[in-house]
Amino acid sequence: MSTSKTRAHSRRQFLRLLAASPLLPQLDLPAGWMIRAQAAQDSELITLAKDAINVFDFEAVARRNLPPAHWGYMASGSDDDATIAANREGFTRYQLRMRRLIDVSRLDTSIQLLGAKLDSPILLCPVGGQRMFHRDGEMAVARAARAKKHLQVLSTVGNASIEEVSKERGEPVWFQLYQRNDWDLTRQMLKRAEAAGCPALVFTIDLLGGRNPETYQRLMRRDTRQCGTCHDPAPLLDNRRRPMLADLIPPATPSPEVGTPTWDYVKRLKDTIGMKLLLKGIVTREDAELAVKHGVDGLFVSNHGGRAENSLRSTIECVPEVVAGVAGRVPVIVDSGFRRGTDIFKALALGATAVGVGRPYVWGLSAFGQEGVETVLEILQRELQLVMRQAGTTTIKQILRAHVVERRA
Ligand code: FNR
Repeated sequence: MSTSKTRAHSRRQFLRLLAASPLLPQLDLPAGWMIRAQAAQDSELITLAKDAINVFDFEAVARRNLPPAHWGYMASGSDDDATIAANREGFTRYQLRMRRLIDVSRLDTSIQLLGAKLDSPILLCPVGGQRMFHRDGEMAVARAARAKKHLQVLSTVGNASIEEVSKERGEPVWFQLYQRNDWDLTRQMLKRAEAAGCPALVFTIDLLGGRNPETYQRLMRRDTRQCGTCHDPAPLLDNRRRPMLADLIPPATPSPEVGTPTWDYVKRLKDTIGMKLLLKGIVTREDAELAVKHGVDGLFVSNHGGRAENSLRSTIECVPEVVAGVAGRVPVIVDSGFRRGTDIFKALALGATAVGVGRPYVWGLSAFGQEGVETVLEILQRELQLVMRQAGTTTIKQILRAHVVERRA
């Protein structure tokens, strides 16, 4: 390459890197630079879901499609977002031990989870307000989950109700709980989920101490658009509606909770519902043991995708101690930072029963709606199947602790 061509190539590379940086909106670059950086990145963007090579291809399109506040809400971690990076970094701590000369022509990725058979160990984590990512929000996700046969968990702050989402999914979905400040209101939601046939309640406990989503705050300030224009032609009120909350009937005699939930609250939930109860946000052996002691039916090892506290501890590194804590008594699901089939394989090898994804399917949704979500699920499933064959494992049960080794420092 001539010197001038090399220089032009390096400049393009630099602009692409710049455009891909989450810091781009925070940098006070001259307008011309921003436009050139965006153009360099756009030339790399996929225009069809089927052109995606991996799930990150959807991230770039989602970033272009979403207004800064919506992007910021989704991309944000806590403080300086370091736990988001730690979640990814954690996977590099584990290497795979591949086995050879095993017939891997037939694969079965099904698992048993709380009495149900699932075709895949990959499930869709609860994510609030999905109409901020696509006008069809949770309904598009439910259709994709149905087409690709994945378990879906609906958030308390979703833009569709448990009845609507379950109908679209073709079977009752799981429901995630953010408790209300009055037991009567919480109870109404639990009963509604139960009446809709929901088999499991996921109580999220990793935001009880609050959080500091700085990237979100920063990008929100940069968003000069009117929310009502984002999802045209649907009316603003409908976009923002969170039916599971909006439909609650204020109690005649309010009785505000005293303090934040503790293990007593878990007992109260357990005593109130007929559904299975899972806790989402467990990251230590001690809490895993306490959860089992309190009759919990399953756990999510999760740091909310790096959105809760800035612990700098990846969830994949928490899996071994939580698995040791439950000692096979209840299933352990893990999420936060899973982007590759190899990530999923590592979690299963370390003893997780299933793996949840959040942002990857939200990227798919933001980029191409239902088709985007379907393609993300397809890619993750395909990658998982590939590594299963490479490791000589034809069923999920055959994925063992011996298939991973901790990298020496
Ligand atoms: C979430 N998450 C989440 N969790 C929950 O229990 N209730 C909720 O309403 C939400 N909302 C939500 C919104 C957005 C935009 C994101 C990105 C995440 C957390 C989610 O369930 C899951 O734990 C993480 O998304 C998993 O990490 P990754 O896959 O996003 O890295």
